[in-house]
Amino acid sequence: MNPVKLFDLSGQVAIVTGAARGLGRALAVGLAAAGAKLALADILDLSCTLAQIEGGGGEAIAVPTDVRDRAQVARLVAETVGRLGTVDVLVNNAGINLIRPTLETSEEDWDLVLDVNLKGAFLCCQAAGRVMLEKGAGAIVNIGSINSEYVFPNSAAYNASKAGVLLLTKTLAYEWGPYGVRVNAVCPGFMETPMLEEIQRGKQGLAESRTGRIPLRRFAAPEDLVGAVIFLASPAAAYVTGHALYVDGGWTLGWPGVERVNLDEDLKRALRL
Ligand SMILES: NC(=O)c1ccc[n+]([C@@H]2O[C@H](COP(=O)([O-])OP(=O)(O)OC[C@H]3O[C@@H](n4cnc5c(N)ncnc54)[C@H](O)[C@@H]3O)[C@@H](O)[C@H]2O)c1
Repeated sequence: MNPVKLFDLSGQVAIVTGAARGLGRALAVGLAAAGAKLALADILDLSCTLAQIEGGGGEAIAVPTDVRDRAQVARLVAETVGRLGTVDVLVNNAGINLIRPTLETSEEDWDLVLDVNLKGAFLCCQAAGRVMLEKGAGAIVNIGSINSEYVFPNSAAYNASKAGVLLLTKTLAYEWGPYGVRVNAVCPGFMETPMLEEIQRGKQGLAESRTGRIPLRRFAAPEDLVGAVIFLASPAAAYVTGHALYVDGGWTLGWPGVERVNLDEDLKRALRL
């Protein structure tokens, strides 16, 4: 295949959940730029994302959807098929975070995080997967996290939900691979979105200490996630399924911040030689 066409999503229909802001908005705009027609889902107002896509010459519809609700998810998929023709790509991005010590995490807290992050992804996979399996083609990209495998304290519900997203991804990849449906995960590190802003608000020095242990030494912009999702959705990834692609600036290499000083000095000395 022509290498340019490998990443071309022209004629494809993609659903992005949590598309009103943050990563979801960047992903929807990016998929539209790659040629896809978009169905945008969120509980927040979608008009900014819609305008951005239409302003760039793309086609999109907004379908207000709470991903926790099976009936609303069914309507999202039915409306996408009815108005755009089918579903080729599903990006399960809607998510919420909660930082709270485990003993202070209520049953309601737990249910909310698990319902949005894990049950929401499950319901969307089931509804869109049915359309994909019937036609024998489709690509699902679930947004996990570095917390899909690595732990932050005081985040039991979030960590568990994102670990669940990863194994949901692998399970569906195994089950649906024989029928032409690929299922992968993208696991972001620290991305500059409203979610990260909310987590870091009022916590002096947190951003600096975090960037200090990222080998690429910066947080990501939402747009940094776009290429990974386009890749996994596109013909370029035709033989990739059940994979977790980390987009984390190298954070999961486990480079402790405390070694950073020595590394910087070592590198400076080596360059002088
Ligand atoms: N920002 C980061 O550093 C980071 C890192 C790793 C993973 N992630 C994951 O990326 C995804 C997007 O995060 P973000 O940083 O853009 O967050 P964000 O809070 O900026 O955006 C999340 C979007 O999801 C929507 N949403 C929440 N509950 C919903 C529901 N019940 N139904 C439909 N939509 C709902 C919100 O309204 C919002 O538009 C999440 O799954 C998050 O866990 C983010």
